[in-house]
Amino acid sequence: MPFAAGADLFKKRCAQCHTIEAVGPNLHGVFGRKSGQAANFSYTKANKNHGVVWSEQTMFEYLENPKKYIPGTKLAFDGFKKESERNDVITYLKEEC
Ligand code: HEC
Repeated sequence: MPFAAGADLFKKRCAQCHTIEAVGPNLHGVFGRKSGQAANFSYTKANKNHGVVWSEQTMFEYLENPKKYIPGTKLAFDGFKKESERNDVITYLKEEC
């Protein structure tokens, strides 16, 4: 059940910034979009200028260690070392966002 597992991980590890308190950008429609493009969000230059297009592949690499993938980002998340966790969250994001 990757979707349910991903929903659970998202709730525990991402939602506090990305939905509830809106500290992070809205992830709606994030796939296929370039980094740093969500409306009404003040990104770091690092995130904005990175210029990656979010796909399953780039998101998978990013979520292993966001600070290494985008040096200087203010996304305060240490990353998922487990590939299964990254895949689950990506499955969830693709369905929900
Ligand atoms: C502590 C708050 C926080 C947590 C927890 C967090 N994020 Fe973020 N996220 C941010 C912030 C702030 C940014 C904007 C980074 C910047 O501008 O440098 C961001 C940016 C992003 C981006 C880039 C969006 C874009 O439009 O380029 C993605 C994708 C993302 N986060 C996914 C996640 C996922 C998935 C999780 C859970 C595994 C997560 N984040 C957990 C705060 C958070």
